Amino acid sequence: MRIISGSARGTRLAAVPPGVRPTSDRVRESLFNALGQFFDGGSVLDLYAGTGALGIEALSRGFGRATFVEKDGRAAAAIRENVRRTGVEDRAEIRRENVERALERLLEYGNTYNLIFMDPPYRIAPTEVEGVLSRLGALLAPGGRVVVERGDAPEEVLLGEKGVTRRYGGTLVTVFDRSDFMMNVAVCPGSFDPITVGHLDVIRRAAGVFDHVVVAVGANRVKNPRLSPESRVALVEKVVADLGNVSVEVMDGLLVEFARERGARVIVKGLRAVSDFNSEFEQAQLNQTLDPEVETMFIMASAKHSFLSSSAVREIASYGGDVSEFVPREILHTVIASYAGSQADTERRIKTESKG
Ligand code: PNS
Repeated sequence: MRIISGSARGTRLAAVPPGVRPTSDRVRESLFNALGQFFDGGSVLDLYAGTGALGIEALSRGFGRATFVEKDGRAAAAIRENVRRTGVEDRAEIRRENVERALERLLEYGNTYNLIFMDPPYRIAPTEVEGVLSRLGALLAPGGRVVVERGDAPEEVLLGEKGVTRRYGGTLVTVFDRSDFMMNVAVCPGSFDPITVGHLDVIRRAAGVFDHVVVAVGANRVKNPRLSPESRVALVEKVVADLGNVSVEVMDGLLVEFARERGARVIVKGLRAVSDFNSEFEQAQLNQTLDPEVETMFIMASAKHSFLSSSAVREIASYGGDVSEFVPREILHTVIASYAGSQADTERRIKTESKG
């Protein structure tokens, strides 16, 4: 194995230690051609570095600094030998530790990189690869890229099939840019006392637009809801169980703070008739004043849900009326019982049902 191009061009690298699967010269050459031939400064992070060939190739081609992460002792020794041979020792940092631990430290230091290589051994579980990959966005400098090398038929789908993948013989190389790591998260807030088919329609449609939706169940001390926040969360969780990108949480505090803490830049609300407008306009303006970076967006209720509300469901159920058209089937029995029996009975029932 040799360095292909740049200041250390032609330098032969040390023998590959057992158990290390190096990136072949041919793949390395094609990969760097695809990235662009020469670089002016900037830093590179080489994870599961093996012999360090990728990071050293980057240094040879003009990168300023490289950090190599490799937990295997013999491989780390080969990297040390290779940076010496290629004359890049003073620009190289070798961290002999596990990748996850190294990432924690680098994130703590606030380091950022222009290029991150990740060539995990094939024996590493796909979930671990995805877990490591999902954290790399925070380490990328503006304009930075992440390059992942994998075997021929990878079981895992990386970052929801984002990135550009090229095949070099039996090797797949995927290049991600920074935008691939930015998830569009929205918060869908409400009292959900109880959740109705109208709410569910809005949540479902939001889940089709955003990468992730967090349903925020307001603790709402002012409104004094019939069910505890935890019980309302249990009901919402039951009806969104088939939506893989929706999570449900209690919100006890300001909505804009809740959104910020979850990395959400959008609040999604459903809008029914004109009568909703004043109150929603007021809340959106208040929230915008509290945090101008969080945007409120509205999804128009379907015509068939125009006059449906949690308060109507509560009232109809309290008189023993039929609410089967208004609440999701999975929670119908609980809702009917909740607004007829005692509050204690209701809480007990919901706890038992959410366990099963
Ligand atoms: O379903 P609802 O009752 O209309 O939901 C109201 C909710 C939970 C969205 C609202 O009460 C809320 O945002 N509560 C959090 C407290 C807050 O941020 N208040 C200031 C902005 S109005």
